[in-house]
Amino acid sequence: MCGIIAAASNRNVGKLLVQGLHKMEYRGYDSAGIALHQNNQIAHLRTLGKVKLLEEKMISEKPKSKLGIAHTRWATHGEPSEENAHPHKSNERVYIVHNGIIENYLDLKEFLKKEGYSFSSQTDSELIAHMLEYFLAKGNSMLDSMYLTKEKLDGAYAIAAIDKEDDKNIIIARNKSPLLIGIGTDEFLAASDPLAIAQLTNEFIFLEDGDVAELSSEEFTIYDQSKNKVEREISQIDISNQATSKGEYKHFMEKEIYEQPDAILNTIDGRVGGDDVLDNIFGIGSSEIFEKVKRIQIVACGTSLHAGRVAANWFSAIAELPTQIDYASEYRYRNPHVDEDSLLVTISQSGETADTLAALRYAKEKDYLSTLTICNVPTSSLARESDYSIFTNAGPEIGVASTKAFTTQLAALMLLSLALAKSRGKNPKLRTRVITAMRSLSDTVNETLKLKDKILEIAPAIASKDNALFLGRGIFYPIAKEGALKLKEISYIHAEAYPAGELKHGPLALIDEEMPVIALAPESEIAEKLVSNLEEVKARGGTLYVFADPSITMDLKSGQVINMPKCDFLLTPIIYTIPLQILSYEVALLRGTDIDQPRNLAKSVTVE
Ligand code: G6P
Repeated sequence: MCGIIAAASNRNVGKLLVQGLHKMEYRGYDSAGIALHQNNQIAHLRTLGKVKLLEEKMISEKPKSKLGIAHTRWATHGEPSEENAHPHKSNERVYIVHNGIIENYLDLKEFLKKEGYSFSSQTDSELIAHMLEYFLAKGNSMLDSMYLTKEKLDGAYAIAAIDKEDDKNIIIARNKSPLLIGIGTDEFLAASDPLAIAQLTNEFIFLEDGDVAELSSEEFTIYDQSKNKVEREISQIDISNQATSKGEYKHFMEKEIYEQPDAILNTIDGRVGGDDVLDNIFGIGSSEIFEKVKRIQIVACGTSLHAGRVAANWFSAIAELPTQIDYASEYRYRNPHVDEDSLLVTISQSGETADTLAALRYAKEKDYLSTLTICNVPTSSLARESDYSIFTNAGPEIGVASTKAFTTQLAALMLLSLALAKSRGKNPKLRTRVITAMRSLSDTVNETLKLKDKILEIAPAIASKDNALFLGRGIFYPIAKEGALKLKEISYIHAEAYPAGELKHGPLALIDEEMPVIALAPESEIAEKLVSNLEEVKARGGTLYVFADPSITMDLKSGQVINMPKCDFLLTPIIYTIPLQILSYEVALLRGTDIDQPRNLAKSVTVE
């Protein structure tokens, strides 16, 4: 992963590059660095740790420059360290930043070593600097050197490079890793994400795979795979600064949890009308395609996969369609059989997750009826490469642990279930029932957020433990999994989730006073069975924390029951997610972890 940014301007660019890195820390934050052209020299600063440390170094060294590149890293090859931080350099001449993975790096390293280059890092990226220098030294231009280097590279990359001998131009290249150009005033910028430069421009050009571009403060030129000059579309995107600041909240995660009522409204807005879902909300022709669908294949990662697991229940209950779900990282490697008239659905907050993107590209070679993505970023690769899409409109999600992206994915997946059912002429009454419930969903989420005080009462007991078990049944099992994922991601407490009926087949052995058990008990046809499962925990001295429908009565020896607001059963997974998010947040706060940027993780995982 990692985030890259570059600027060629008529003004000093050091500060804006560092500000851009701050906005991209969600992509990685274990080290950072910058290379700036300064009086025919390159100021090269790198730090281990977060961008703040690089910023401090910049403040003390005060480099001045109108042209530079910068990077924030999430380690793949080589531990986080100053030596492994980007920019990497070759012969004090070429400096590069790279996001992605060079798969044939060992062969290329061998080749370069034989050519006399020595390596000062353990990264795969450093070889790009040497390879560019190798071709430059043979008399090629920087543009030609980039094309010659690209011919050698296998893998994914977004690269920005500068040459000490040229204080006017930056060369950038993209293959399978996001990269865009920003059109500023008297300056041109490049970055992995529009967020990084959104304060400087709202005009962006998203490069395509194989593209190379040359930027100066006055102009930019884009070349395609075959080195032909090309024009690419300019997208206007307004990303308000407000959306990327914490406001009154301590953490982005907290802000994003409390934004959910509005985010869900935004997902539903303009997509339902009367007592049904509107036609073609997934793109022109989608309603017609949906008539033909006989089977659904979902691929996603992390939290997005959990959303898919909930949706599989909805596709079955509302649209009467069978669904297969795969981890995106596994899907391609199981020789998936594609049934006739299958729809491939990818789910992704970022739209850039490498495994999900690779699964989509693989599926496009197979016999799918069509491909569709549920995504939060309209300009993302998944959105651009899928036949149909719906955007969750949740606004930027910065906290690494996904919250509003998840609940809005669920809302969008419910719209998909309804749209499929409508096109297939299934369950009109049920559709009306769900649409009515969706109209008040945002209010119910608001009501659920008020449970915070009750959750604060149980958070200390969980924060003091090293393990936790989450239980749910049916459509609530994926929510239990999501609860466990949230807790482990940000509080580093080991947490597992089980369908409650499976307790007796193993996990019951773990129950003692050191193992808090968090259970989801909505009103359902299997509520009684779930209560019996919870009795099994109680009988073995386990402490239960149960989020329950008020109709469910439980007499606990230790622990607590928290009553949940009422909601249509099919939408309750969204409601029951909320207290689990708040619980993880409050537990992590008590444990003093780095909530928005938990150790070893990153928000957008653009490596396979
Ligand atoms: C990372 C993030 C998770 C996210 C997953 C999938 O692991 O930390 O929060 O669920 O990637 O990301 P996507 O953008 O595809 O939803």
